[in-house]
Amino acid sequence: MSQPSVTAQTAKKPRHPCVPGDLRLSVAPMMDWTDTHCRVFHRLLAPHARLYTEMVHANAVIHGDRARLLAMDPVEHPVALQLGGSEPELLAQAARIGAEYGFDEINLNCGCPSDRVQAGRFGACLMREPQLVADSVAAMAAALEQHGLDVSVTVKCRLGVDDDHDWDRFLAFIDTVAAAGCRMFVIHARNAWLKGLSPKENREVPPLRYDWAYRLKQERNQLQIVVNGGIATQDEATQHLVHTDGAMLGRAAYHDPYLLHRLDVAWFGGELKTRGELLRALRPYVESQLARGVYLKHIAKHLLGLFAGERGGRAFRQVLSEGAHKPGADWSLIEHALSLTESFQDARVDAA
Ligand SMILES: Cc1cc2nc3c(=O)[nH]c(=O)nc-3n(C[C@H](O)[C@H](O)[C@H](O)COP(=O)(O)O)c2cc1C
Repeated sequence: MSQPSVTAQTAKKPRHPCVPGDLRLSVAPMMDWTDTHCRVFHRLLAPHARLYTEMVHANAVIHGDRARLLAMDPVEHPVALQLGGSEPELLAQAARIGAEYGFDEINLNCGCPSDRVQAGRFGACLMREPQLVADSVAAMAAALEQHGLDVSVTVKCRLGVDDDHDWDRFLAFIDTVAAAGCRMFVIHARNAWLKGLSPKENREVPPLRYDWAYRLKQERNQLQIVVNGGIATQDEATQHLVHTDGAMLGRAAYHDPYLLHRLDVAWFGGELKTRGELLRALRPYVESQLARGVYLKHIAKHLLGLFAGERGGRAFRQVLSEGAHKPGADWSLIEHALSLTESFQDARVDAA
């Protein structure tokens, strides 16, 4: 498939309502979850949030199927491409390609603990190689500047690896990378344990220490610090804003996407819409994707949590998960799930 030209992408880029540098709300990069369909849905819920792609390895960007790997809808802005890798030259090429595709930020993954990532010497193990990360950031920033691409390079990292709880080493990592031109860090506020824990356990077992992210903001006020990890409620997210520039939500945003809408309205203003209103606004997108041959199941899987914790939420989930993979499944399935769920909610009102 032919690549979109730079000019076409740039021309399509709408002015987004998020002032540059407003990082208060973001949705974490999540492999297999934050694909373009998911991000379009999240954008609808949270017009001001900064969105992140799944991690894509620099090699895949350079040699792989870019049309698929870098698929992005213009409504997604501001949206960051997260890269994996540790070879500065390759990362520089991949960053340039990503920026030419229209991504607003290039984020380097220094937090993923999987074995595959460790074998490739990237992700969280890069926290042990601050100079290599700095060289990578510098190479990416130089490539972007050389091509006149006004896109910032950022880093998402942990506090340390394994049982390294040395504040000075963490700060030295940040300082080394900042000196190479990185002004914004997403801090997943726990260590990565590289031996003995699965990636899932690595998101749950190592204890969270938000105080390190807060202290980093205090000691390096000129940097933009976004805190991530275990943020589950509106109150928790709001509390993090007292100490940092932003809160990044991952699993909570995915499993309870209406939380994103509530946060966006609370922090940026606007009218709180119902779940049904928000979902129906997705119809033109869903229908345009179906017309292009996309199967409903690829979009519907991201919608399952919309009524999480609500009456009828289980029925909504069930109708979508049982029906979306069937041949010919289309918008009418979503409408059916929605009407069924709304009937549960009406019943509650009647009973009251
Ligand atoms: C399914 C899944 C996939 C993830 N993939 C990535 C990834 O590609 N890159 C990354 O930096 N972090 C990844 N993460 C970690 C999240 O970005 C985030 O740091 C972590 O889930 C903690 O935030 P949370 O508690 O709000 O979910 C992933 C998390 C999940 C649940």
